[in-house]
Amino acid sequence: MDINTIRRHFPLLSRKINGKPVVYFDNACSSLRPLPVLRAMEEYYRDFPACGGRSMHKLGEIVTQKVEEARGIIAKFIHARRKEEIIFTRNTTESINLIAHSMGFKQGDVILTTDKEHNSNLIPWQILAEKIGIIHLIVPSRKDNTFDLERFESMMNDSVKLVSMGQTSNLDGVSIPAEAIIKIAHRHGAKVLLDAAQAAPHRPIDVTRLDVDFLAFSGHKMLGPSGTGVLYGKYALLDALEPFLVGGDTVEYSTYESHKFLPLPEKFEAGLQNYAGIIGFGAAIQYLNDIGFSYIARQERELNQFITETLTKIPGLTLMGSHDPALRSGIVSFCIEGIDSHQIALILDQTANIMIRSGQHCVHSWFSAHKIKGSARASLYFYNTLEEAQLFVDCMNKIILLHR
Ligand SMILES: Cc1ncc(COP(=O)(O)O)c(C=O)c1O
Repeated sequence: MDINTIRRHFPLLSRKINGKPVVYFDNACSSLRPLPVLRAMEEYYRDFPACGGRSMHKLGEIVTQKVEEARGIIAKFIHARRKEEIIFTRNTTESINLIAHSMGFKQGDVILTTDKEHNSNLIPWQILAEKIGIIHLIVPSRKDNTFDLERFESMMNDSVKLVSMGQTSNLDGVSIPAEAIIKIAHRHGAKVLLDAAQAAPHRPIDVTRLDVDFLAFSGHKMLGPSGTGVLYGKYALLDALEPFLVGGDTVEYSTYESHKFLPLPEKFEAGLQNYAGIIGFGAAIQYLNDIGFSYIARQERELNQFITETLTKIPGLTLMGSHDPALRSGIVSFCIEGIDSHQIALILDQTANIMIRSGQHCVHSWFSAHKIKGSARASLYFYNTLEEAQLFVDCMNKIILLHR
């Protein structure tokens, strides 16, 4: 597919706001959604707006079948062995919370994270530390902000019950060596949860080859609807966990005194589900499969390289993460001495409809430890173009001129 055809699938990219096209560089926050996703969701509400899994009528059956189709598509996408290993959640945050509240952690259990975690993979462990006395330890990154495998290995011991780490950082786009981390963790009997919110949209993930125990990701960062997410877990591990949310649709039967949970995945999917969202998520994954990760990586690398080369010539600009754009996925995060990151974002938006993110990107802990107020973050996806990247760097150069 050529870029113009791809762009036609995203209605926002042919719209204008105040007479100017939209340059959407906030994809790490949420991606745009293509027509097949919009159509799949509309189809649900128009043609079979019913409840899945329990109603015996024709519409109920269609919903059940479509939801299970989406589950199958997503299972195949991450190379899960069984589709029952895919639990639908609202987002990555809920998937991580599910593990935090279902694994039965006890006082003294150690949980290891990196020092660059999104709040979604930090606060749940802080709460468990406060409430039940788990020990949350943080593996410090190397000076260049990359993962320190030796340091990690030296912190591993048999008290570590879970290693929970962001696979690709939303702060700087740099990835951790997941395969090596998982091997080391398993040698000590620990389980591994990967927060793949920023990895799954940009690179192929094979959970079986990786041998990862749990994987969390969100639909809305990979062309899917808002309010959709997945927790993948190895069947035997998920089967042994207590559900976090309980109630309707999680049980086979109940009496006034007791209940019997349904098998996977139902026991974790409490209450009426976001059927339109789940079906749309399946359509998003099919669309991503059609595009292919090699195209996505090529496009992101070309744009990231162009922007990096131009931005790094700006005096007083500090780039977050590696200077090598090939290591930063679709992210260019930077701060400029004397200019607030929010100011940069506002000027880009007001003057040229260029939409980026600014501030601390829900990684407040890292910014406060490094005494940095915030960064401006342009995050790219495969539908962005070199022309958009050119406009972005031109506007950045103008901002610099105005402030010097
Ligand atoms: C690395 C990472 N983890 C977790 C999240 C939380 O995702 P969600 O808001 O979809 O739960 C994000 C969102 O930006 C993220 O970048």
